[in-house]
Amino acid sequence: MPPYAYFHKKFVPLSEAKIGVLTHALHYGTACFDGIRGNWNEEKQELYLFRLKEHYQRLHKGCRILKIDLPYTVDELCKLTVEVVEKSGYHEDVYVRPLAYKSHQAIGVKLHDLEDDFLIVVATLPAYLDADKGVRCCVSSWRRIDDTMIPARGKITGIYVNSALAKTEANIRGFDEAILLTHDGHVAEGSGENIFLFIDGKLVTPPSSDNILLGITRDTVMKLAKNELGIETEERTVDRTELYTADEAFFTGTAAHVTPIIEVDERQVGDGKIGEMTKKLQDLYFGVIKGKNPKYMDWCTPVRAKVAKAS
Ligand SMILES: Cc1ncc(COP(=O)(O)O)c(C=O)c1O
Repeated sequence: MPPYAYFHKKFVPLSEAKIGVLTHALHYGTACFDGIRGNWNEEKQELYLFRLKEHYQRLHKGCRILKIDLPYTVDELCKLTVEVVEKSGYHEDVYVRPLAYKSHQAIGVKLHDLEDDFLIVVATLPAYLDADKGVRCCVSSWRRIDDTMIPARGKITGIYVNSALAKTEANIRGFDEAILLTHDGHVAEGSGENIFLFIDGKLVTPPSSDNILLGITRDTVMKLAKNELGIETEERTVDRTELYTADEAFFTGTAAHVTPIIEVDERQVGDGKIGEMTKKLQDLYFGVIKGKNPKYMDWCTPVRAKVAKAS
């Protein structure tokens, strides 16, 4: 069964979903996307789409910023997603990528009076960061874009040049991931993840006003820490040197899951091993996203593949 896409208001095999070379979003980064995990539960033979609604609520907000007309309600978007995943017939973890974009076929930089379109594609995603071993990071020489430049609270495709510059710089220098600072030198986030520090028994994470994407995994971890471990998260401005002195640090993200940070700028975080709090949150998180924790099943939308597993 080929993977399917929702494209031009129809479900089509992925290979048939093609856009024109003059597509506005391709030239100017004028699109909003999201990334949703479908997590395979072997025991129940079901995929669980994690916090589907929240991803589409965020997409709607991004579209308002970019003046993209997204003519579907959140519920309709959820239904379309379930259908495209069902049709694709995966029996493994998947990654769903909805994209609302300026589909207009013309040259010219602006946001208004242009045609818009919406598509969904489904793919598998190899491990993004090593969540078992943890990652070595550097503080990037690139600064995080500011809300007055391109708003980070929207998952706007053009913003990701900022992330790509930082990620490639980090990888070329031999690190796994980059940590970006705001223009005034405070910790913002990773190239595709939010960041948490564990300091003197408290969880700390940068606030939305420090140019972060308001991550759904970030929110999940804050809720799990509070409900399951009785730990509140302080959302506050974080200094660069707190990265060096924190007891533990970790990234959160749909692609990255909960990934321990074991080193920053060639200084060990804590004892350089995965921290106790990080491990507890990681275990809780994996149980929840795979639909193994009955308390959080409201966050999991089940999808049963319409086709049998190929032998
Ligand atoms: C820049 C950035 N920050 C944070 C995140 C984490 O967001 P979420 O947990 O909603 O995937 C992502 C991933 O989508 C991202 O691209």
